[in-house]
Amino acid sequence: MRSIDLAGVPVPVIGQGTWRMGEDPNHRRAEIAALQLGIDEGMTLIDTAEMYGEGGAERVVGEAIHGKRDQVFLVSKVYPHHASQKGIPRACEASLQRLGTDYIDLYLLHWRGQYPLEETVEAFERLREAGKIGRWGVSNFDVADLQELASPACATNQVLYNIQERGIEFDLLPWWRQHNLPLMAYCPIAQGGELLSSPTLKQIATRHEAAPAQVALAWVLRQDGVIAIPKAVTPEHIRLNAAAADLVLDKHDLDAIDRVFGPPQRKHRLAMV
Ligand SMILES: NC(=O)c1ccc[n+]([C@@H]2O[C@H](COP(=O)([O-])OP(=O)(O)OC[C@H]3O[C@@H](n4cnc5c(N)ncnc54)[C@H](OP(=O)(O)O)[C@@H]3O)[C@@H](O)[C@H]2O)c1
Repeated sequence: MRSIDLAGVPVPVIGQGTWRMGEDPNHRRAEIAALQLGIDEGMTLIDTAEMYGEGGAERVVGEAIHGKRDQVFLVSKVYPHHASQKGIPRACEASLQRLGTDYIDLYLLHWRGQYPLEETVEAFERLREAGKIGRWGVSNFDVADLQELASPACATNQVLYNIQERGIEFDLLPWWRQHNLPLMAYCPIAQGGELLSSPTLKQIATRHEAAPAQVALAWVLRQDGVIAIPKAVTPEHIRLNAAAADLVLDKHDLDAIDRVFGPPQRKHRLAMV
């Protein structure tokens, strides 16, 4: 698996998402097995959040990484309504308990809320000094938010980015690139929806003897500095996603995608799910 530098640590360009995990006890075993298979396949970055399954996803992750903590780069996120001086350490402690570990590699503010950014940053820094988190970052921040944040300690911004949602290419991606920081793309295969039935994607996939989801991932990863975090529970999906790191799209493929899913011509409000 190719890797990328994230605030001093090499992480795989494809990690594993966990949204919708930990919601149904009947799926628990499959979800744990899925994350473990993903780790074996090299997708050792795991993205979770206190929000997912109201802690349920973090518990699933905790079970999946038991005995493998050292192999994994763990990302979790704090709710905006917990992002205060007092709320952040409490939320982090609860996440650590559920994850069964004593540190989170990367802790993100899930989206902007009511607390001043300086207060949130200060609380993140305290956690970092205490060794509870390795580094911190943000999620769902647009350019204006990042300009206001203006912190060189912010390790990443996690945003929605896939072939159908290219709004960030207009301003956020170029701005972020100037700062030479890795970007985490969430929903990189558009939640496994209609994008995967696109005739264009299917044709490109056939040409490369690949699957449409792999084309979607390779497209997100066509540029340096991007990490994709697809979520998959189906073993076949996990193997395909890991192997997508080796798929390289050529100009012919990229032009074909641009003709159907054109790049943005103006500023779009940052898309979120
Ligand atoms: N920061 C934020 O605000 C935010 C927001 C949304 C998501 N996220 C993070 O980003 C992760 C990814 O986003 P997401 O889960 O919404 O969407 P996604 O990764 O784009 O899509 C997940 C869906 O695609 C299916 N899938 C996975 N691999 C596939 C393949 N190779 N072929 C066909 N279908 C495939 C999965 O099915 P199976 O599970 O059945 O395999 C699942 O239904 C989340 O899990 C979460 O960790 C962050």
